[in-house]
Amino acid sequence: MTARKRIGILTSGGDCAGLNAVIRAVVHRAVGTYGWQVLGIKEGTQGFLQRPVQYQTLDLSNVDGHMMRQGGTILGTTNRGDPFAYPMGDGTTKDRSDEIIGGYRELGLDALIGIGGDGSFAILHKLAEKGGLKMVGIPKTIDNDLGMTEVSVGFDTAVGVAVEALDRLQPTAASHQRVMVLEVMGRDAGHIALAAGIAGGADVILIPEVPYSIDSIANKIKQVRASGRNFALVVVSEAVKTAEGTGVKKLLQGGEKRYGGIGDYIGEKIADATGAETRVTVLGHVQRGSPPSARDRLVASAFGVHAVDLIAEGKFDRMVAWSNRGVIDVPITEAIAHYSCVELDSALVKTARGLGISLGD
Ligand code: F6P
Repeated sequence: MTARKRIGILTSGGDCAGLNAVIRAVVHRAVGTYGWQVLGIKEGTQGFLQRPVQYQTLDLSNVDGHMMRQGGTILGTTNRGDPFAYPMGDGTTKDRSDEIIGGYRELGLDALIGIGGDGSFAILHKLAEKGGLKMVGIPKTIDNDLGMTEVSVGFDTAVGVAVEALDRLQPTAASHQRVMVLEVMGRDAGHIALAAGIAGGADVILIPEVPYSIDSIANKIKQVRASGRNFALVVVSEAVKTAEGTGVKKLLQGGEKRYGGIGDYIGEKIADATGAETRVTVLGHVQRGSPPSARDRLVASAFGVHAVDLIAEGKFDRMVAWSNRGVIDVPITEAIAHYSCVELDSALVKTARGLGISLGD
């Protein structure tokens, strides 16, 4: 039996399905197996910036029941506010990293579990180096773009939502003889589009890793028509560029930009090139919000248990990872250093081509 520890846990970056399942697993292992205390830090590192630090004590009574089924995160999260360059509201930034380190110390934490993506891990790693914090990372992102792990929590659910959207678009496409364009998230990686496009029976899948031409897409749609089918499904990943090579982004309040809108561009180009009637659906945050799939619940549970075991073994600055049907752990620096986009010789790219799906090239 290890000495009684007090550990913190936070969720950071964009939310996704499965975060609550991770929290639940961590509490079960830490409290149930080891008899430790678990403090849930509110809204990512933001909770550490408040005085008093904003947290909630997590025990078996508040993680049981239906929590694993819920999307979102009971702790709240944020994908802005790098503490090393914190936006102060007057246009300036300030290094507030010492406040975070102070918050960790104030709570008397022995270790911190950060559930995040590459951006969050880069910040947590920097904080750990600067302040001697003991940190373990659990990968989550619908984008599945973190290196050194085959899957991250949230990806499977997002793919499932996109497949369901294609299942719903297909009958209306067929009824109206239309080309339906579905724009999905994924940031700079095409994992969601590729997986959902294959599973959802798309005719064309456009991902940022494969350059496309409108001619090639139009030829595919003409082929589909020549085969006697008068509708088509096209999936486009949000970071796909226009023919001129620009990414399509929306300007948000506060001056931030996010991908969004390439679907409309592709839809118009297809209409021009083929004369087909096109309609565009932008799936957006629906991909993040539903109850987690069984697969995400399993991955989340396995990650949560392993992360707590790492702390028990005194292993820090590591990220838990899925590899070869099991859970391993890797240096968090390696995960940050290796961005994972779609490999052109991967099994899924070969599968798509083998099925006759056009990747637009
Ligand atoms: O990284 C997850 C993600 O959902 C991306 O797929 C998407 O580009 C981005 O976050 C959207 O960010 P926000 O929630 O700030 O709109």
